[in-house]
Amino acid sequence: MQTIGIICAMNSELARIKEALHNSETQQVGRMTFHVGKLGGKRVAAALCGIGKVNAAAFTQTLISNLGADYIINSGVSGALSSSLHIMDIVAATDLMHHDLFPNFLEGEGYFPNCARFPADERLSGLVEEICKEQGVPCVRGRIVSGEQFVNDSALKTQIIEKTQGITTEMEGAAVGHVCYLNNIPFTVVRCISDGADDNGAMDFDTFVVHAAERCAKITLALVERI
Ligand code: ADE
Repeated sequence: MQTIGIICAMNSELARIKEALHNSETQQVGRMTFHVGKLGGKRVAAALCGIGKVNAAAFTQTLISNLGADYIINSGVSGALSSSLHIMDIVAATDLMHHDLFPNFLEGEGYFPNCARFPADERLSGLVEEICKEQGVPCVRGRIVSGEQFVNDSALKTQIIEKTQGITTEMEGAAVGHVCYLNNIPFTVVRCISDGADDNGAMDFDTFVVHAAERCAKITLALVERI
């Protein structure tokens, strides 16, 4: 039986996913808790990793090494970088990038792992797009970029766009993609826009985070059924 690992940073992003698991039990690795259950004939290990790339990296590696994950999905909310994205739109990753790490440190001559843009699994991201179409939810495929900061500053937003050509930003996806790349594990990142990562970002986030997180969880659950 295939095992699908799901990683969310916040409780609002994980709640629906946890509820949907059948016969779920918790498994502990160090201080990390995993909710392991069944969904759509698959074994699912879902976890609340907390905010930031170090948390996300540790949980991703543990899902792969200790829980035997064959696929990883990172699900949650994000701030729009592209002006064509609106609050509540879904983004399915084409690839992931750190926006706060100079790409040459990862892919310059002789620099491990010779990759700074971690490709999401085409099939998984394609399924997300297909599910959104069926559900009448706007969905865009594109680059998701991550850094150790909540972006709520229009000038910083412009800098991140220029540096990365990302269409949305959050704080975990690149770490998930990076660790999956090192392990040859297929992954995708699914995000629902909660704010515009601009000067109003924090206010919009507070208003829309719960709705956006629920929409994202619903799409992620449909994805698990379809893998
Ligand atoms: N997650 C949701 N919105 C975000 C933002 N504006 N910056 C970073 N992470 C986010």
